[in-house]
Amino acid sequence: MRVLVIGSGAREHALVLALSRDPSVIALACAPGNAGIAGVAETYGVDVTDAGAVAALAKEWNADLVVVGPEQPLVAGAADAVRAAGIPCFGPSAAAARIEGSKAFAKDVMAAAGVPTATSEVVDNPARLDAALTHFGPTWVVKDDGLAAGKGVVVTADRAVARAHAMTLLDNGHPVLLESFLDGPEVSLFCLVDGATVVPLLPAQDFKRVGDGDSGPNTGGMGAYSPLPWAPEGLVDTIVSTCVQPVVDELARRGTPFTGLLYAGLALTTAGPQVIEFNCRFGDPETQAVLALLRTPLAGLFHAAATGDLASAPALEWADGYAVTVVVAAEGYPGRPRTGDVVGGGEAEGVLHAGTRRREDGAVVSVGGRVLSVVGTGPTLAAAREDTYRRVVGVHLTGSHHRTDIALRAANGEIEVPS
Ligand code: AMP
Ligand code: GLY
Repeated sequence: MRVLVIGSGAREHALVLALSRDPSVIALACAPGNAGIAGVAETYGVDVTDAGAVAALAKEWNADLVVVGPEQPLVAGAADAVRAAGIPCFGPSAAAARIEGSKAFAKDVMAAAGVPTATSEVVDNPARLDAALTHFGPTWVVKDDGLAAGKGVVVTADRAVARAHAMTLLDNGHPVLLESFLDGPEVSLFCLVDGATVVPLLPAQDFKRVGDGDSGPNTGGMGAYSPLPWAPEGLVDTIVSTCVQPVVDELARRGTPFTGLLYAGLALTTAGPQVIEFNCRFGDPETQAVLALLRTPLAGLFHAAATGDLASAPALEWADGYAVTVVVAAEGYPGRPRTGDVVGGGEAEGVLHAGTRRREDGAVVSVGGRVLSVVGTGPTLAAAREDTYRRVVGVHLTGSHHRTDIALRAANGEIEVPS
């Protein structure tokens, strides 16, 4: 199989590495890729938000399968364009990708499917905002009703902070979504979906806040681990049957079946798992941890999902133990990141690239906020943490920062699931 991956993050680096281990893959390309991905796959420039350009590249390169990593091309119709060109695509149509692209749409689908989630209200003017703030808080959850790469959300016990964020969104013409606060540990569950059949991967947890102890603003994700040693028995089956399958069925019923990776972000509350969000693609950085443990050849699974054949795919095989990933971010991230610095140690095993580019003189330099995603494994979560942080010491980027407490509370047995 000739497989083309779309995207340029550490998630795509992890996808490309996992695909390269599948003996059925005879050629691998990634567009646009990055300096690390270029060591594993052919790379091509493409504007990922131009669905026609993505499909044209897939045709020109003779792809047998296209795997779309990020949400922007999916929301822009890349999977539709690739399928229209007669090439199987692992990724949902623009219509199904609205499950991530519009939080209001996602709420509507969940309501129709009877999926437990936070109550919410969309507000589009300041007068309604104040009434809604009184109704919802404290704690306030204020979201941008659109794609915001995890950064459009403010969760705060301070009404003034909540109001200021909402006003900034309204001033920029963005409708605001207010939600009830869901208390309890968070879980990310990735599911392969072929329009009807759902195959869950190992559950993971990510760390959205920039600083240790969950301090500071939300980011795209600063680290993750998988699986969850504290997960109650049957958690994955419960999430699939109460949250994921009903949404997959509802999207199919509406004539917009979901094909690709459906990501359920949940909180485990006293009332059971409740959905915080659905995403239409693999999560970053959880993917880097989850795929480090997958033993089943990935291209075969993606092809089965893309062609409606997941029901006959083999049961997934996983390595024993745990995987942990730690993101090394540029100075300034999640604000405006400092770029153009030389990245040292980036070729080491377990170091996945995100915002990197190879300069003309051959040096690898930083070009984005999340620069590297370092992955380690071990028989216990503590051992996997040690392996990862040992690798982090080997990478160098001036001014960079990373969290030192990824998976720490879980390794110490400190996470409690309310019952
Ligand atoms: P989202 O972009 O919707 O994934 O939100 C980013 C992060 O904000 C989530 O991972 C949670 O940590 C937090 N969050 C979002 N919605 C809620 C909610 N209703 N209750 C509690 N925390 C939330
Ligand atoms: N890890 C969060 C996300 O990918 O949205």
